[in-house]
Amino acid sequence: MTQVPVFQGRTMADAFGRRIEYLRISVTDKCNLRCVYCMPEEGLPWLKKDQLLTYEEIRDIVAVLAPRGLKRVRLTGGEPLIRKDLPRLVDLIASVPGIQDLAISTNGVLLEEMAVPLREAGATRVNISLDSFRKERVDALARRKGTFERVLAGLEAAESAGLEPIKINVVLIRGKNDDEIVDFADATRNRPWHVRFIEIMPTGANLEISANDFFSCEEALERLRELGDLVSVPGPEGNGPAAYFRFPGAKGTVGVITPMSHNFCDDCNRLRLTADGQLRPCLFGDIQTNLRDPLRAGQDLVPLIEETLRIKPERHDLVQGSDSGSGGLIALSQTGG
Ligand code: 5AD
Ligand code: SF4
Repeated sequence: MTQVPVFQGRTMADAFGRRIEYLRISVTDKCNLRCVYCMPEEGLPWLKKDQLLTYEEIRDIVAVLAPRGLKRVRLTGGEPLIRKDLPRLVDLIASVPGIQDLAISTNGVLLEEMAVPLREAGATRVNISLDSFRKERVDALARRKGTFERVLAGLEAAESAGLEPIKINVVLIRGKNDDEIVDFADATRNRPWHVRFIEIMPTGANLEISANDFFSCEEALERLRELGDLVSVPGPEGNGPAAYFRFPGAKGTVGVITPMSHNFCDDCNRLRLTADGQLRPCLFGDIQTNLRDPLRAGQDLVPLIEETLRIKPERHDLVQGSDSGSGGLIALSQTGG
């Protein structure tokens, strides 16, 4: 491959000219839920504590990337809020010059207690997973009783703490929540929520569901078009792979994230950092660069980052009904989703 300059002044780009300014950081692979489309009931072989990047190590990696064009960071998991004293990490990252936006993707279970400390430490906004408005369904999908009440309390706490705009992620599963698509869209008329429907991506742990119960966003949009008045709009801040729509006069928007049925990769603007310090240029596939050990050995990370950008693939190779393109991934929680 020709050597493409990836760092150009204060910006970085991959070999396809995609500007990279967003880093998703997984702070733990563990989770307090067991969503049926994500991980097996018994959990996964978790990373050990000394394999995890410390908060200072994460800050150091962000500090290498920020002068080279990194502007936005998102903390993910597993479930990021279960890692001890997360506000301390938020504070460390928010203090890196150049970081303009620090969002968190959470299942919401611990947000009631954590929303204010996270906001005060410098978090700007949250994405919350909520796959249904019905208690029995949410608890069954998460395989944990009491999830629904906790998530609703978390949502309210996030709103009053000003962690906005709030995005709500809804993973579509045929026969489980596709009859609520219109309810979710209707909720955006009166609440300032940005509801995003997400197509299930196949991983080792969810092959049956992702093959048999796949529900495309195209079909979701068809149902919404029957309501008549949705118009296409630019998304809320934090542009990502979603297309957004709004009802006239509505407070929020409805969006779709189409990793399986659409050109989700074309505008990819991101890198990922796993909880054990692997820099991943793509959500799927087996390309990753170990930053943790070189960092611990005091080596310069810049050439490693440069090489990772250079080999960022043009697109993922996921195929519905198979985990052949996932690079051996058992669950998205292993790489941060
Ligand atoms: N396919 C699609 N979305 C998934 N999520 C977790 N696993 C999958 C999967 N296999 C979602 C979570 C959360 C977001 C980070 O990713 O529900 O909303
Ligand atoms: Fe946990 Fe998120 Fe996976 Fe659900 S989807 S089990 S909340 S990591």
